[in-house]
Amino acid sequence: MKKLVVAIDGPAGAGKSTVAQIAAKKLGFTYIDTGAMYRAVAWKTLQQKKEITDELIVEVVKDIKVRLQYADGATKVFVDDYEVTGEIRTPEINAIVSQVAALGPVREKMVAQQREMAENDSVLMDGRDIATNVLPNADVKIFLTASIEERARRRFKEMQEKGFSVEFEKLKADIAARDKADSEREISPLVQAEDAELLDTSDMSIDEVVQAILDRCK
Ligand code: DC
Repeated sequence: MKKLVVAIDGPAGAGKSTVAQIAAKKLGFTYIDTGAMYRAVAWKTLQQKKEITDELIVEVVKDIKVRLQYADGATKVFVDDYEVTGEIRTPEINAIVSQVAALGPVREKMVAQQREMAENDSVLMDGRDIATNVLPNADVKIFLTASIEERARRRFKEMQEKGFSVEFEKLKADIAARDKADSEREISPLVQAEDAELLDTSDMSIDEVVQAILDRCK
């Protein structure tokens, strides 16, 4: 079968990683969660126990080793060979990851690694700038979104299931703030590629979204 590259972009909580993970498994493709890579940089920055500044983040990214390991439909994330899969999805990381992802030196290093990962295999990559910047020649481009209410509901449920006590309205405001920061930053902002197909998942089930992705890969 011809090597196929699928790019999925969209705002926080649109369900990208949930559906992308399932679709990749069904297709037998490697799933690459680029958001996890920016979260990994944020994780190592927090480990420094210093004030979070752009200078500190740039210093941290200089010699960080971020590795994604995808097997059996699940992704494990490593920073300098230490597994951080669970630790990168916390409110503390959410609070600084947009700042981390806005910095040129961070993006340069992560994007180079992302392109390398897509070189040899069929991949399904999700993020914010995949179709516009990382893999502009992707065979399938999807922009996945949902209403802010629905996205906040999904993240609220996810956080509750993990045992974090979060307030719905605050979570919604945080998501809106992160979308704004990601959409308005100078380098590779979150924007729908001209040739990407818009998929609004507000009223769709996970299975329906997965099927919609599979249909576009036929
Ligand atoms: O998808 P996520 O919530 O795990 O992404 C975490 C952050 O990383 C989010 O604020 C946007 C940023 N990001 C990015 O700038 N570019 C990507 N390709 C993926 C994520």
